[in-house]
Amino acid sequence: MKHPIFAGNWKLNHAPADAEQFMKVFLAHYPRRQDRTVLFFPPALTLPTVAALVNDRSDLAVGVQNIHWEDHGAFTGENSAAIAHGAGARYALIGHSERRHVFGETEEQTGLKVAAALRAGLTSIICVGETLEQRERGDTVRVVVRQLRAAVSRIQPSQIIGSLLAYEPVWAIGTGRTATPEDADAVHTALRAELGALTGDQGRAVPILYGGSVNRINAASLLAVPDVGGLLVGGASLEPEGWATLART
Ligand code: 13P
Repeated sequence: MKHPIFAGNWKLNHAPADAEQFMKVFLAHYPRRQDRTVLFFPPALTLPTVAALVNDRSDLAVGVQNIHWEDHGAFTGENSAAIAHGAGARYALIGHSERRHVFGETEEQTGLKVAAALRAGLTSIICVGETLEQRERGDTVRVVVRQLRAAVSRIQPSQIIGSLLAYEPVWAIGTGRTATPEDADAVHTALRAELGALTGDQGRAVPILYGGSVNRINAASLLAVPDVGGLLVGGASLEPEGWATLART
């Protein structure tokens, strides 16, 4: 039986006061469920507010959208994995496409960040995905496998097992253009084979989420793909009733 994960990435939206209002409405529309987990990725300054509001719900948790790879030091403006954990985060997005493509995060840095998350007790959601140009060149699988290998290059193979993966094609993020269930199936299957190769098979059980223009209409067909273990959602996670409905898919 699948235990799907619904992760809402708020990106740069919802100040603490908005988040309080959001969670009030969400919690009213989303009674506890044991068959799935819902994750919230608020902006770092909003994270403690959301964490406090999900504290008594084992089916809900909070994550941080980004961490620095060092534990402390002279890194003005950054947050460490330990600070995020102390603020209530239990998960960390690593290598989100906006970090890679807007902020120039390198594959090497994603590897360092996965190791930092592990040191602090955060579960990494390692995000991979190809650009439209890479897809049109037929490079999708090569690119996502390379990103996965780099992201786990600083941890032991056995430690990959506690992480999660998210396949988010760059061309599908915020564009309204979703991968078809067949596209997602092909890439998830390739990632799962690589997870198996990296871990001597145990890692094949690592959940792989799909992300990129997921909404209430396409969520069910994507979740029906056997290798899709959950959804990583941006825009459609920003409104509480809609998000509660999507998370009940
Ligand atoms: P959208 O759902 O808005 O396309 O964003 C996807 C995403 O980047 C989630 O991390």
